[in-house]
Amino acid sequence: RVLILDFGSQVTQLIARRLRESGVYCEIHPFSTSADKIKAFGAKGIILSGGPASVTEEGSPRAADVVFELGVPVLGICYGEQTMCQQLGGNVTGNHNREFGRAFIEIVKPSALFDGLFEVGHKEQVWMSHGDWIDAIPEGFDVVAVSESAPYAAIANESRRFYGVQFHPEVVHTPRGAAILKNFTHKIAGCRGDWTMAAFKAQTIQRIREQVGQGRVICGLSGGVDSSVAAKLLHEAIGDQLTCIFVDHGLLRGEEAEDVVSMFRDHFNIPLVHVDASKLFLERLAGVTDPEQKRKIIGSSFIDVFDEEAKKLGGADFLAQGTLYPDVIESVSFTGGPSVTIKSHHNVGGLPARMKLKLVEPLRELFKDEVRALGFELGLPGRMVGRHPFPGPGLAIRIPGEITRERLAILRNADRVYLDEIRKAGLYDQIWQAFAVLLPVKTVGVMGDGRTYDHVCALRAVTSTDGMTADYYPFPHDFLGRVATRIINEVQGINRVVYDITSKPPGTIEWE
Ligand code: XMP
Repeated sequence: RVLILDFGSQVTQLIARRLRESGVYCEIHPFSTSADKIKAFGAKGIILSGGPASVTEEGSPRAADVVFELGVPVLGICYGEQTMCQQLGGNVTGNHNREFGRAFIEIVKPSALFDGLFEVGHKEQVWMSHGDWIDAIPEGFDVVAVSESAPYAAIANESRRFYGVQFHPEVVHTPRGAAILKNFTHKIAGCRGDWTMAAFKAQTIQRIREQVGQGRVICGLSGGVDSSVAAKLLHEAIGDQLTCIFVDHGLLRGEEAEDVVSMFRDHFNIPLVHVDASKLFLERLAGVTDPEQKRKIIGSSFIDVFDEEAKKLGGADFLAQGTLYPDVIESVSFTGGPSVTIKSHHNVGGLPARMKLKLVEPLRELFKDEVRALGFELGLPGRMVGRHPFPGPGLAIRIPGEITRERLAILRNADRVYLDEIRKAGLYDQIWQAFAVLLPVKTVGVMGDGRTYDHVCALRAVTSTDGMTADYYPFPHDFLGRVATRIINEVQGINRVVYDITSKPPGTIEWE
């Protein structure tokens, strides 16, 4: 196992992810973890992450000295390299030459870190993001790679097995980065690489049991992948100490509610409370057209309903959530400065403050595709695990303008046809998310011999890896033509179909 000490980089989790991908078990702990804990961890190797601070600032974070005394290999990445240098007797100065983005390093000396990957003289693309500059490396170290503005792009003390890289091997923009990390964990630290998702499941179940004890847990189930996987995992860990609450806000797609309820309650025998709150939500949304207003009403109504149901259950000690790593990152800004609210996201994240429950978030370290892999491991069916993401506020943010039952029915119908065609064409799994949007615009058409005056439907489909950036999906024209014809023929209320070809940024995935 490998210990990752976190100095606050936005991408620390990616280090963990790359290690997991190569079958290495690892844990991320704060840089300030005590010497005793570090010793007790029993790491085969230690990685020091990057971070936003500057080692030249007084009081900036340091690794415990024990890291360099255990005799295990250490890899410092970016800030991690700099603090290692500073702590072992080298020198770092501030802000000479900032280097951000793509850069090339040149290998100048053989090193175990690049063994089997690059020869001396080879130039390799990497991703840099740093402002400080190493002036002098500690005794015993050699420079093994340089870049234009970082003369110490990679350094090594081969006998003590200490390595430092100024670039970020964990990001995809460093194409051979995963291989470099694997050299560190497998060849240098001697990890076997036999860790699997099944092992993650077993460990997580153990951790949940330790955290929860005999306590009662409630879990907001949305029918999406994340909360479903969290619920199934919790149920395996603590059985009927778990109760799921499924709030139907009336803004779901076709048979979604029935699907979720029958799968969890009937198929998996997980205690589940199904609340039909559509009347309340639709009443509160009547006449509202502003997107942020809609999101706020839905978010707070959700809390009201959830809170009331939880009280009916006679109290709970924990609230379980399917929070993923990208959710954590989007809501925490390490870089300082207030970030602009693009959209007020609604998920159960607003609950704990009001409900005073302790949180259980077993998926907090995972990325979407890892959650899917875990879902399969837990025996959830493919159609549930492979589902496209669906936003908490549901169809409300896919109907610009006022939400009415009639408009919801039209949209559900169009969405059903669109997704049916996508599945038939075998494209569902290639797309991150696909959905129809009902526009509040009416246009004139002709059907048979008659004039029509009906709504416009926009189709959206995007590819993405994490929802943070996205590209529109390049459907063949005949596919789009087929969907348009079917929607106009089958869905009363729509007489024109358009395809949205905006990427994110500058667009967002949802329309509101
Ligand atoms: P945007 O529209 O911001 O969406 O590009 C990015 C991803 O997040 C989903 N989304 C939400 N998910 N609550 C959620 O749980 C929300 O309020 C919410 N708004 C957007 C969206 O569907 C896409 O996958």
